Amino acid sequence: MGFSLIHVPDMHFGSGADLDKIASIENLVPDFDPDVVVLSGNITTRARDGEFQAARLFARQMARSALVYIIPGSNEAEWWRRPLLPMSLPSKFATYRKYFGDELTPTFDLSEALITGALTSHGPSLRAFSARLKDMRRRGYLPEKDVARIKNRFKNAKPQQTRIVVMHHNIVPEDSEERPDLARFERARAKLIDAGTDIVLCGHDATPSVDAIGGVVVSCAGTLAGKEGADVPVSFHRIVIQDELIQVEVYLWEAQTKAFRQTDVFAFSRRRKLNDGSKSA
Ligand SMILES: [Fe+2]
Repeated sequence: MGFSLIHVPDMHFGSGADLDKIASIENLVPDFDPDVVVLSGNITTRARDGEFQAARLFARQMARSALVYIIPGSNEAEWWRRPLLPMSLPSKFATYRKYFGDELTPTFDLSEALITGALTSHGPSLRAFSARLKDMRRRGYLPEKDVARIKNRFKNAKPQQTRIVVMHHNIVPEDSEERPDLARFERARAKLIDAGTDIVLCGHDATPSVDAIGGVVVSCAGTLAGKEGADVPVSFHRIVIQDELIQVEVYLWEAQTKAFRQTDVFAFSRRRKLNDGSKSA
């Protein structure tokens, strides 16, 4: 049997969208026949209606093949509507909610996986302070209440359920030395490890990556729209969970053939064994 999901990179519908790559993903996903397709934020470039409409069409296309799990990212937080003033989450994500519903961090309680989300994208905030405005709007943080909710959900997970957190910012940020985009990222990941997480699915960083840290497998799907002029690899990930094995397959975009090709396969042993339900966090 097994359980599989496709982790799609940040789509950046709008000026950043790459039609060849999007069409290729649309064509490939039905062949993989995944259980879930995950979009971990930054589905738009500037949270415009037209961008959301394109993202919604893509999500509906994916929904023909699988359940679609989606959360908003830093590009979907409309903090600029009330700069530097307190703003409720519903109003900060008003346009996102118009197209994808009110639930910003849904939970999928499936027979083989318990998938939930954390909202790390809040726009400029003291919790993710940076002296550079450019960084402020990109940076995020993991709120305590999200950690508490995740821990509570995972506490009640069934032993056969793999516990998956979808969040936009990477707990293994690519710029961890200089200006990590997830504030206090080491603390955030310690909390997710403590919550009993098996897998984190994230995006935001330009470069895709696969890591395992503290027993948690971290898939960062990167972005379809790299920084201007930068030659960053573009990939999507397929994650297959079978028995006690978590396998992450990397499909890298080849510019010459205009196609994705499988380039790497990472295999990890699940930190919590299937017959070890009594010890689940
Ligand atoms: Fe982002």
